[in-house]
Amino acid sequence: MIYSRNRRLRSTEAVRSLVRESHLSVNDFVMPVFVMEGENKEEPIASMPGIFRRSIDLTVKECKELYSLGVKAVNLYMKVSDHLKDNTGKEAWNRDGLMQNTIKAIKNAVPEMVVMPDVALDPYSIYGHDGIIENGKIVNDATNDALARMSVSHAEAGADIVAPSDMMDGRVLAIREALEESGFHDVGILSYAAKYASSFYGPFRSALDSAPKEMGEIPKDKKTYQMDYHNSREAMNEVFKDVDEGADIIMIKPGLPYLDIVAKVREAIDLPIAVYNVSGEYAMVKAAAQNGWLDNDKTIIESLTCFKRAGADMIFTYFAKEAAMLLNK
Ligand code: PBG
Repeated sequence: MIYSRNRRLRSTEAVRSLVRESHLSVNDFVMPVFVMEGENKEEPIASMPGIFRRSIDLTVKECKELYSLGVKAVNLYMKVSDHLKDNTGKEAWNRDGLMQNTIKAIKNAVPEMVVMPDVALDPYSIYGHDGIIENGKIVNDATNDALARMSVSHAEAGADIVAPSDMMDGRVLAIREALEESGFHDVGILSYAAKYASSFYGPFRSALDSAPKEMGEIPKDKKTYQMDYHNSREAMNEVFKDVDEGADIIMIKPGLPYLDIVAKVREAIDLPIAVYNVSGEYAMVKAAAQNGWLDNDKTIIESLTCFKRAGADMIFTYFAKEAAMLLNK
């Protein structure tokens, strides 16, 4: 005789909804947004159907729409013109730069929107790297100084939380100190603590024209700073250091192939955890859905819910707007 029957609790949708362990809501989403120069401009990103690069005015319009759908946080990325790129990243802390003007415009139009600018030099680098290069190497500490200046300029423009995605050592501390010294005690740091060198970033790099360049001595990948995907204990080491340095939120990236890392970090820390459902993960679902091989809506909601099950508190996802519309239905 079988007494214990797990299927009892799966018998109807009402029972299933009573025993559900994790829940997905629009409060969980952070929408990454690509911005470019110009006015009234919108360009589709070929490898990310449904995602656009927009000028500031249309970005603001999009933010209003996102906010009205319940998406209350955006993560900002700039496509910078070639003539503004160099090996110092100085355009990154230009008070009148594209990022700074975007932050001001969004905070002005939608003050409640949580604005999280990306902090990294790659869109501003002639080499497509997240750091300053000397003698063919990415130099850590000089890059930290640049990232700290960049973060302060974001805070001055009105950013709520800066989001360093560069993977230099010690940059959370450098940024925290610079923010404190400038009086920005309330500006938070969301640290990409465990960020892996991943092929899943491909569509993002084409959206921003930020892929590492093939140039002589210059490293052609980001493996000297982003993590090796064979490793998981190393992720814990990265996370604990960033917590000690003063991070407010810890990010794990990419997302779906890295849920083991999310679950492990969840066990170990009590800070909020963010996960990044990256461009390549978006592209895979969209490509399959366009071919009729996957159900678009169900696959999106399932994937995003699995991040919650793994232990994430918030999800950076290009599906944010679409998923918000599905959840609001
Ligand atoms: C760069 C950065 C990358 C992403 C976010 N910030 C790309 C990279 O590290 O090369 C990737 C996001 C995505 O693929 O959606 N600092």
